Amino acid sequence: MRLDKFLTECGLGSRSDVKRILKKREIRINGKIEISPKVSVELEDKILHNDRVIEYKEMRYYIMNKPAGYITATEDKKQKTVMEILPDWVIKKNLFPVGRLDKDTEGLLLFTNDGPLSHELLSPKKHVDKTYYVVGEKEISDKDMKTLELGVDIGGYITKPSKCERVEDNIINLTISEGRFHQVKKMLHAIDNQVTYLKRVKFANLQLGTIELGEVVEVNREDI
Ligand code: URA
Repeated sequence: MRLDKFLTECGLGSRSDVKRILKKREIRINGKIEISPKVSVELEDKILHNDRVIEYKEMRYYIMNKPAGYITATEDKKQKTVMEILPDWVIKKNLFPVGRLDKDTEGLLLFTNDGPLSHELLSPKKHVDKTYYVVGEKEISDKDMKTLELGVDIGGYITKPSKCERVEDNIINLTISEGRFHQVKKMLHAIDNQVTYLKRVKFANLQLGTIELGEVVEVNREDI
């Protein structure tokens, strides 16, 4: 593979960014400074940017604390997409979001280029847990919480058992193992309430933790 293509795919920036980096003599291949974007590199070559080893990662995983106002899509003609928030250092080749958060929903969104893993995480058969911090327009009573846990009718479909934890009178953490369209909003609607704020705080083994709104962090497959 050409050096400039390799460096671009490793997240060093666009082809012109990479050209600049090479001109500044910041790249070493097997100990020797390289300035030509055209030379060919092999996977076993040791490539350094300044003193940092550049690794080619075939499979990549990143989590974002998605802000409201962005749609979960790889592209859209009219609306801002979550892809626009990904910082330069993220290797975007073949990257896509796993599942979907609504435009007005915040929180944990996983990105990967690993199709089979994404398929597994989204498969209804795998019952992958997702936890949402849910603010209701009005109080969510203990009885409402029980009702949500047992399953509610969200328009011809009864939701599978879920888990509710109280945070405040009108705030709960709701863990569901399915991912139907607008599921949490519809579940609140089923108990005669309405979501005023929604944030996903957990997905599979991943936790949002202290990741700031709009921030992106790289994770490993094992973390997921
Ligand atoms: N449920 C919803 O209603 N919206 C989301 O974004 C995620 C789950």
